[in-house]
Amino acid sequence: MDILHINNIKKTLQKTTILTDLSLTVKKAEILTLVGPSGSGKTTLLRCINRLIDPDQGTIHYHENDIKNIPVVSLRKEIVLVPQETYMLPGTVYDNIAYGQNLQGYKDEAVIKQSLTDAGLDRSFLTKDAMKLSGGEKKRVSLARALAINPKILLLDEPTNGIDPKVLVTVEKNIIDFARKRNLTILWVTHNIDQATRVSDRIANLKEGTITEVQRAQEFQWGSAY
Ligand SMILES: Nc1ncnc2c1ncn2[C@@H]1O[C@H](COP(=O)(O)OP(=O)(O)O)[C@@H](O)[C@H]1O
Ligand SMILES: [Mg+2]
Repeated sequence: MDILHINNIKKTLQKTTILTDLSLTVKKAEILTLVGPSGSGKTTLLRCINRLIDPDQGTIHYHENDIKNIPVVSLRKEIVLVPQETYMLPGTVYDNIAYGQNLQGYKDEAVIKQSLTDAGLDRSFLTKDAMKLSGGEKKRVSLARALAINPKILLLDEPTNGIDPKVLVTVEKNIIDFARKRNLTILWVTHNIDQATRVSDRIANLKEGTITEVQRAQEFQWGSAY
C-alpha cells in the first residue's frame, strides 16, 4: 500500500528552480533512502512534505488526502521531520524530548523515556543539560523528540551526521528496529552509500531537482547516481 504520493512538484526559491517535475511514491512501512549530490534538493523536498514550505506546482498526497487540506498541526503529528541542523532548547534532555509532545498539547512520560532508549541513549541522559551534549548525542535527542510523537512517517535528514563511526551501525540498527516495530515509514536522506545499502528497502536518486531512479537496494545502479 502506498502512503505518500508526490506528483510533479516544482519549487523555485529566489528565482532558482530547486525542484522540477519531481514525482515519488512511498510505500507504507518501507525505508526509502534519498541520495544525491549536495544541493540537489533533498532537504527542500523533505520541507515540502512537512509543509515548512509549499511547492509552486504539483501535489503531495498523504494516503488519499492532499496535504494542503490537512491542518498543519495534525499533519506534523503524523509526518515528523528530523532536520539536518539539530537544535537544542535550553533545558534537560527530558525537556527537549518533551518539546515535540508539548507542541502537540500533551505529555506522556513513559513514551519520552522509551524514545530516548529507542534513539540509543541510556536513561542517565534524561537529566543532562541538552546544550552540553556532543553533536552525535544531540542528533539522537533530536531523533528521540520525533519518536516521542509516535509518527507514521519519519523524515530523516542526514540523521547520523556527526555520530561516532563506532556507534553508527548501532544507531542505524536502532532506527530500523523501531521502524519495523511500529510499522513506521521512513524517508531517509543520506550521503553515505554504504549506509543507504545497509538500511534501505528502496533507494531514490535525486539529481538536479528531480528523481532520476528508484530501485530496490540490491538493484540500485550506483554508477548513475551522483
Ligand atoms: N531558502 C532558500 N533560498 C534560496 N535558495 C535555497 C534556499 N534553500 C535552499 N536553497 C538552494 O536550493 C538548492 C537545494 O538545497 P537543498 O534542498 O538544501 O539541497 P540538499 O539537501 O540536497 O543538499 C541549493 O542550491 C540551495 O542553495
Ligand atoms: Mg540537505
